[in-house]
Amino acid sequence: MGYNPRVLVTAASQGIGRHIAMYLHKQGYRVIGTSRMPEKHDSPYELEYLDFRKKDSIEKLVAKVNYTRAAVINTGNPSCEPCKFLDTNYEDWMEGAQLFLAGPLYLTKLLIQEAIKRDGKISITLISAASVLEPMPYFTVSDTVRSGLSRVAKVVSRTFPSNVRINVLLLGSYDTPGARYNVRKIGEKKGLAGEDSAWKKLVLERNPNGKIGEPYDLGRTVEFLLFEASYINGTTILIDGSMTKAVLI
Ligand SMILES: NC(=O)c1ccc[n+]([C@@H]2O[C@H](COP(=O)([O-])OP(=O)(O)OC[C@H]3O[C@@H](n4cnc5c(N)ncnc54)[C@H](OP(=O)(O)O)[C@@H]3O)[C@@H](O)[C@H]2O)c1
Repeated sequence: MGYNPRVLVTAASQGIGRHIAMYLHKQGYRVIGTSRMPEKHDSPYELEYLDFRKKDSIEKLVAKVNYTRAAVINTGNPSCEPCKFLDTNYEDWMEGAQLFLAGPLYLTKLLIQEAIKRDGKISITLISAASVLEPMPYFTVSDTVRSGLSRVAKVVSRTFPSNVRINVLLLGSYDTPGARYNVRKIGEKKGLAGEDSAWKKLVLERNPNGKIGEPYDLGRTVEFLLFEASYINGTTILIDGSMTKAVLI
């Protein structure tokens, strides 16, 4: 790499965001990650404050970052989850909308505006979940709300073809603190004894080859989408080791 492009990776203090940010950092990119508590995390890359539920934190982040050619927009999980439909209340749906649509898409809009102002280009990868294709009872809020991201990526890619490339990644299972928390909680609700047996039953056995995703595959896929894949735009890509039974087209 001749120079080190900057990449914004949101929700990068742990889990999926950290896997991606660490991969890009090790490849020599200048990563700007985000967290709701940047001062609390030990990180080899810069961490800035961002809370997708707070509009002004999104605006302040963009004012600080200005223009970036690449962004990975990842977010946290709604606080009610794992929660079934009848367990949800009005606030849970509001939070889901802020975390998966309003926050990430407002950030996307502001970043695109900065790029267009400078007649520059931007490449964006939106992180979503494979389960939007086969919605799961305990993830009704997230699976429902973020299914709209693919539509936005399509519209945006066709509206700004010379400035923007934007794609959605639907992820299968990865070992993260968030996934461990959800599996432990669902395991308790289903009466599965112990976290290991819940992980085996609810995660490993869902995939025919019994595997979960590796940080390398994820990081390399994101890097390819952001910096190399010039003909991939406005689309939704599944990275799940064949966990999903549905066929996309
Ligand atoms: N792990 C999987 O198998 C998997 C599979 C499919 C999709 N996903 C999706 O990938 C995303 C990340 O999941 P994960 O497993 O990495 O979860 P995680 O381990 O709980 O990490 C969540 C991240 O989101 C940040 N975050 C939480 N609330 C936020 C908010 N209001 N605004 C901005 N950032 C916030 C957290 O940082 P701070 O607390 O420092 O702010 C943390 O970095 C989620 O949307 C999840 O549904 C995960």
